[in-house]
Amino acid sequence: MNNGKSRVSVFENAYLTIESLFFGYFGFFLINSLSMAILDGRALAKAIRQELADQVSVLAAEQKRSPHLAAVLVGDDPASQAYVRNKVRSCEKVGFQSTLIRKPGTISQAELMAIVQQLNADDSIDGFIVQLPLPKHLDDTEITLAIDPAKDVDGFHPVNIGRMAQGLPCYIPATPLGIMEMLKRYNIDTQGKEVVVVGRSNIVGTPMSILLSRKGNPGNATVTMCHSRTQDLAAHVRRADIVVAAIGRPAFITADMIKPGAVVIDVGINRVDAPETDKGYKLIGDVDYKVIAPQARWITPVPGGVGQLTVVSLLMNTLRAYRKEVYP
Ligand SMILES: NC(=O)c1ccc[n+]([C@@H]2O[C@H](COP(=O)([O-])OP(=O)(O)OC[C@H]3O[C@@H](n4cnc5c(N)ncnc54)[C@H](OP(=O)(O)O)[C@@H]3O)[C@@H](O)[C@H]2O)c1
Repeated sequence: MNNGKSRVSVFENAYLTIESLFFGYFGFFLINSLSMAILDGRALAKAIRQELADQVSVLAAEQKRSPHLAAVLVGDDPASQAYVRNKVRSCEKVGFQSTLIRKPGTISQAELMAIVQQLNADDSIDGFIVQLPLPKHLDDTEITLAIDPAKDVDGFHPVNIGRMAQGLPCYIPATPLGIMEMLKRYNIDTQGKEVVVVGRSNIVGTPMSILLSRKGNPGNATVTMCHSRTQDLAAHVRRADIVVAAIGRPAFITADMIKPGAVVIDVGINRVDAPETDKGYKLIGDVDYKVIAPQARWITPVPGGVGQLTVVSLLMNTLRAYRKEVYP
């Protein structure tokens, strides 16, 4: 009995040694292939800005004018002012022309509609945006509908959204366009993957769901879109190969919701108190980055991730408008 037992255990030991060598070897690659990497929005935005600047240089060499973006800013909301300033500055950085039209918060709907009509008719302007949100007395839906879809570089007009849903040429809203560009340039495979988008806003969650589910690359994913009425949100997110969090709640997505090896795209930008910093606050995402990062395959930091690509995406749309690629 003893001999037999010891013979078995010799074989067992030999097997275990081979097994541990085998799995140790492949385990290394498995762990290595699961190791986390950062989707660096800052570096990507810089590379795209350079590409845009190069295209402007080519146009200048051909004695052609550069693309021209106009922005309408109504009122004195500090966040809107900062966004628009950033857009204008980004135009300058790549050599685009920009026009900023500032109007007081007391402007009437008719006056603002007249500005939109002027911009629609101005051939020297390729695309324009009306910075949202507008003061409460103004009807932003009427304004959005009045923008010529061919100049709607924000991609908010229902004609562009409808075209996007049908996979036709269109302007894609800047944040989803930036995410698609990131997935493409980092070669992240979305085909057949389980994608869970948390958030269904018109500017982020809904377009992301459409873009990733439609045919294309990136695309061809199986998409679930979650929102505040979703039951057992954690169970949905836990299934995801790719999570897109666009909620607007700091560190809402926690580590227990993330499948090891998932790709995590954090769209959220939330200001939270941080007395230890000079400003007294810091920006964090919708994802609990510190604990989730080690178990994710790819993850976007906040700041330095998706947000960096939003403005360059607007510039990409402006170049397409200049080239009349969407509406020849
Ligand atoms: N990186 C960028 O450039 C960029 C651009 C745009 C936005 N953002 C940021 O992204 C975040 C989302 O922006 P947004 O404009 O899409 O926000 P939003 O319009 O407020 O939409 C938030 C979405 O999250 C859902 N939601 C809220 N609480 C939830 C909960 N407890 N469980 C599940 N879903 C919940 C809402 O569901 P309901 O529809 O049911 O209310 C809604 O669909 C914000 O932090 C914003 O600052 C960043």
